[in-house]
Order: sequence, then structure tokens, then C-alpha cells
Amino acid sequence: MLVLGIESSCDETSAAVISDSALLSNVISSQLFHSRFGGVVPELASREHLRIITPIVQKALADGNVTDRDIEVCAATSGPGLIGSLLVGLNFGKGFALSHDIPFVAVHHLEAHIFSAFLEHDNLSFPFIALIVSGGHTLLYLVKDFGRYEKLGRTRDDAAGEAFDKVAKMLGLPYPGGPEIDRRARHGNPTFHEFPRAGLSNDDLDFSFSGIKTSVLYFLRDHTERLQSESFINDVSASFQRAMIDILVEKTRRAVERTGVKSLAVVGGVSANSELQARMKELASALGLTLAIPSLQYSTDNAAMIAKTGELLYTRTGRSMFDATAFARSEDFSD
Ligand code: KG4
Ligand code: ZN
Repeated sequence: MLVLGIESSCDETSAAVISDSALLSNVISSQLFHSRFGGVVPELASREHLRIITPIVQKALADGNVTDRDIEVCAATSGPGLIGSLLVGLNFGKGFALSHDIPFVAVHHLEAHIFSAFLEHDNLSFPFIALIVSGGHTLLYLVKDFGRYEKLGRTRDDAAGEAFDKVAKMLGLPYPGGPEIDRRARHGNPTFHEFPRAGLSNDDLDFSFSGIKTSVLYFLRDHTERLQSESFINDVSASFQRAMIDILVEKTRRAVERTGVKSLAVVGGVSANSELQARMKELASALGLTLAIPSLQYSTDNAAMIAKTGELLYTRTGRSMFDATAFARSEDFSD
């Protein structure tokens, strides 16, 4: 079955083609101009999606050596995300399906992040724990089967990626800040300053990152004169990153131990973080877990994960209605 996937929930326009689970193409265009504003400007993002979505879909078809007439199912993200951006991809997808007389499937962005782990890892088996760490979300799910999810924990304030982006901004680093902090941290001392590991004394599996962010803010206020120093920026990056990763890894370890699962998926943009990857590998080998972390092009927003999830959804539950709507917020995608 040939599936076209479309993703436009934030500042990436992406299209991908999958054929019987084999990925034929995955084209991603990132709107780098937002870095000038220190974050994504929703109105500009949706206009840019509108401008480039047709060439992006055409390139995905060409790269996959298929034509629009070969596509048998069209899947597009319906949410959560920026509403104006989502509407562009969702309506393009519906229009494509309608005009080619093929089924349309609306895909939940977070469910797709979970199944991005299946694009390269066919050894991942149910049940597994999924840590979703992105710019908008930080969630721990017990994935019992396709379509059967139990939410174990979530962030109570900022998402992990949002904390990385905000701290990077305080340090004068460009947006998106996560990759910048990751790079800086490699040259810094992670024990330079002890930022708080909020929530580790609680018994639940929720996260809170606003306290760390505020403590970085106060620390920098007390040391403004040192912000000119590269080594200071590297040390703060490394210390902040160490605190973030300690929390993410510890809550994930508790989720694995409480549920007794043998597999773990770490997905979403922040899963590209090199320290998080190294520490999750250590955790997996200590607990004897199968670990799946998508490679960079599938961990940040991409349409390959939408095509993959669209294929799984269509096979199990069939097509969506054409009145499927775009939605800005929702962490729930279980049936
Ligand atoms: O999943 P994603 O592409 O978009 C959302 O759905 O939010 O995640 C983007 C987030 C940004 O906050 C970015 O700073 C963060 O992922 N990110 C990273 C790294 N690469 C991307 N955070 C930490 N370390 C990285 N290497
Ligand atoms: Zn995402």
C-alpha cells in the first residue's frame, strides 16, 4: 500500500511516501527565518506552509519514484500544533485524497512521534514505554498496543524542548536552542553549577521544568559580566543540560520499573540530544531493555512518521471522515 504523509504542525513543512512499511522518501523544509524572531511566528509560519507545500509534496513523490496517481492513501497531521499551520497540511491532504478518490487519514502528531520509533527499529515490541520529548510536549506513555495507550506522566509547566529553547535565549544562543546547548555542553563542565532537579522527590511520573529555567535566569542575573565568556556559556549549558537529563532519565527509569516493560522508545526533537541518548543507552543496558531512538531526521518533526502512522491507522481502523478538524491542544489520542 502506497501512503503519502503530510506534516505541517509547526515550522516544518514535510511530505513523505511509504510503501508497505518501506520509506521511499521524506522531504523536510524548515522555516529557518523564525530564528530572527527567537521563536516561531504563527502567522508567518502558515503563510510559508501555503507557499511551499505543493513543491514539497511534488518532491516527495519524485524522490519516491511515484506519481500522484499511484498513491492509495493520504495521511495528514490534524493536531496538536499551530492551528493555522495545521490547516494548510490538513486541507491539502483532504484535497489530495478527494481529487484522487482515495481514503484520507487524520493523524495525531504525538501518536506519530511514538511510531517514528518503528521507522528504523523493527525489534521494538509491545508493551513499551514511550518518552515523548519535544518543543511542545513532555510525556510518558505506556504503549500497550497500537491504539492502546496509558498516560503515566506529563509536564506540569514547560516542555523539555521549550526549557532548552528559553535557556538558550538567556545565554544569547540562536533558536532553536536545544541543538546549540547540546553543542556547547560538550565543551563545558556539567558540575560547574548545581541547578535544581525538580520533582524527583515526588512519587508521581510528572515533570516540571520551570524551576530550572528560573534558577538559570537568577544565576545569570548574578553573573551578567561573565556572559561574554565562551567558557562560562559552555559551563552553564553543560550544567543545565545535566539537570534536565537527570530528571528525564530518572522518571523514565521509574516508569520502566513500575510497569515491568522490556522496551523503551525515546522520541521527539529533544531525543536528538547527545547526552540524553548516551544516558538512555546506559539505562537500557543496566535494565536489559530494547531501546529505540529515531535518528535525527525522524526525531524532529517529519512526515515519515505521519505516513507510517497513517498506514498503521488505515490498516486497523480505516479511513477518517473528511470533516476531521484541526486542533491546537490535546495530549489524548487513545481510542
Ligand atoms: O519534535 P520537535 O521537532 O517539534 C515539536 O513538535 O515541538 O521538537 C523541537 C524541539 C525544540 O525545542 C528543540 O530545541 C529541541 O526539540 N531539540 C533539542 C535538540 N535538538 C532539537 N533539544 C536538546 N538537544 C538537542 N540536540
Ligand atoms: Zn513534534
